Amino acid sequence: MEAAGAASPPTEPPVTHPAVAPLAFLLGKWRGEGEGSFPTISSFRYGEELLFSHHPSKPVISYTQKTWKAASGEPMHAESGYWRPRPDGSVDVVIAQSTGLAEVQKGSYDAEKKTVTLQSELVGNASKVKQITRTFQMADGELSYVVQMATITTSLQPHLRALLKRI
Ligand code: HEM
Repeated sequence: MEAAGAASPPTEPPVTHPAVAPLAFLLGKWRGEGEGSFPTISSFRYGEELLFSHHPSKPVISYTQKTWKAASGEPMHAESGYWRPRPDGSVDVVIAQSTGLAEVQKGSYDAEKKTVTLQSELVGNASKVKQITRTFQMADGELSYVVQMATITTSLQPHLRALLKRI
């Protein structure tokens, strides 16, 4: 019989579910700053924290976001949802916003370029918003994104841009 200490080490459990592995670059907590704008509003600066988490037994990433006024720290928008990457490079995302708006997003990822591109398939419970796109890119250890929206009065254009570092 082999002595316990001489046994080969147990296989390490996977750190990520195989379905989630291509988006592992998102996992963790991110903090940074962003700028909001739109033709119909005054631009503003905000602080932001994002958390992408997951359990190795589930093919899904949980997502939470919170923002605050850069100047005062007062809470602003928050949202949370679930990201489901598919082996074919597509990704399904649902997001519930603190304003009551709900998004169903479909898109694609590129695991090598570390990018994700999402387009709304459904925007629910929104009086003004017709369409939302979200693009994410991880480069040099920093995560940046652009959120664009189209409203009943204004064509698709940027509402939010932010740059975050992993914490
Ligand atoms: C304004 C939607 C995220 C802060 C607006 C407006 C819409 C909107 C429809 C009004 C534009 C108009 O009247 O023409 C959204 C959507 C978001 C989002 C769909 C996410 C996908 C955020 C975030 C923040 C934010 C993350 C804060 C960090 C603001 C502010 C205004 C505004 C300060 C202008 C003041 C106001 O009308 O309340 N947003 N927003 N928004 N948004 Fe957002």
